[in-house]
Amino acid sequence: MWQGLINKYRKYLPVTDKTPIITLCEGNTPLIKSVFLPQYLGKKLNIYFKYEGLNPTGSFKDRGMTMAISKAVEKGMKAVMCASTGNTSASASAYAARAGIASFVLIPEGKIALGKLAQAMMHGATVIELEGNFDEALKMVCAVTENYPIELVNSINPFRIEGQKTASFEIVDALGVAPDYHSLPVGNAGNITAYWKGYNEYFEISKKLPKMIGFQAAGSAPIYFDKVIEKPETVATAIRIGNPASWKQAVAARDESGGFIDIVTDEEILDAFKLLAEKEGVFCEPASAASIAGIIKRKDIFKDGDTIVCTLTGHGLKDPDNAILKSSKPIKVKNSLSDLIKVIGL
Ligand code: F0G
Repeated sequence: MWQGLINKYRKYLPVTDKTPIITLCEGNTPLIKSVFLPQYLGKKLNIYFKYEGLNPTGSFKDRGMTMAISKAVEKGMKAVMCASTGNTSASASAYAARAGIASFVLIPEGKIALGKLAQAMMHGATVIELEGNFDEALKMVCAVTENYPIELVNSINPFRIEGQKTASFEIVDALGVAPDYHSLPVGNAGNITAYWKGYNEYFEISKKLPKMIGFQAAGSAPIYFDKVIEKPETVATAIRIGNPASWKQAVAARDESGGFIDIVTDEEILDAFKLLAEKEGVFCEPASAASIAGIIKRKDIFKDGDTIVCTLTGHGLKDPDNAILKSSKPIKVKNSLSDLIKVIGL
């Protein structure tokens, strides 16, 4: 029986017999082989989606949170806090609820997707909307947690990275080897840092390292432009971040792996978001689709036979507003069989 990623990868994680394991059975997410993209890109590629939207709260954050909350409880902490564009707050509040401790989440006012807000509210977090963006919220959360007995559970908490690195282990376990390329969206840059750490720690098994290719939204691309973006903007609110906490580590992952960090426009993100849902049957949130928009944009670098894994970081149900905006409206029909047949086009 699957008992969560700490149980599975215990020997690679900083836990002991004394660590209380707070788990919702996260991890073990599917690696789904793409049926449409290779043909769309006109190359014989093996493209896989690491569908992290199937974690318990619908995003990859649960991997880091099972570790961060377990370690916070081990330390005797009674409350946790995070700044969040939505998914971290959903995950932190769920794992805090599971552990029976309090959670405080600071979110940028009006800029988080509806599903994520509903999650944090349902799990009983104290949800605080800041008149400011994510970067400003993170600064505030650091100031609070440095001075009060509340554990910070953003990805600058090293246990978050430890948990998240297990996604690389699962990919190697599933493929038997590391892919040639690993594509993922980059926001606060914790996840690219974690994947790279994971691939390196699993080198004894994989004997190979992928090129890490990260994609930022064009209006929120501090690493790509190599400067802080004071007012980041993008439809992909999860990655609306102008000053990533793990900036240096992301640059190291990029350079050590021989990869790159590029930008994709909001239009490219939304097109990939829709394409995945319509042509692959996989519903992810807009930020996640940046990893797909990116490989479409950079298709010329890939050669026949290459294996590319794209992390789909969050579930599509997180952001119903963008899904509805990007789709045709339901067709209204009278309560009449002949009208219905007409609408179907028979
Ligand atoms: N994709 C999704 C769906 C996210 O929620 C995030 C980050 C990222 C990608 C980027 O990952 O920050 O590790 O580079 N969301 C954070 C949050 C910031 O607060 O939920 P990253």
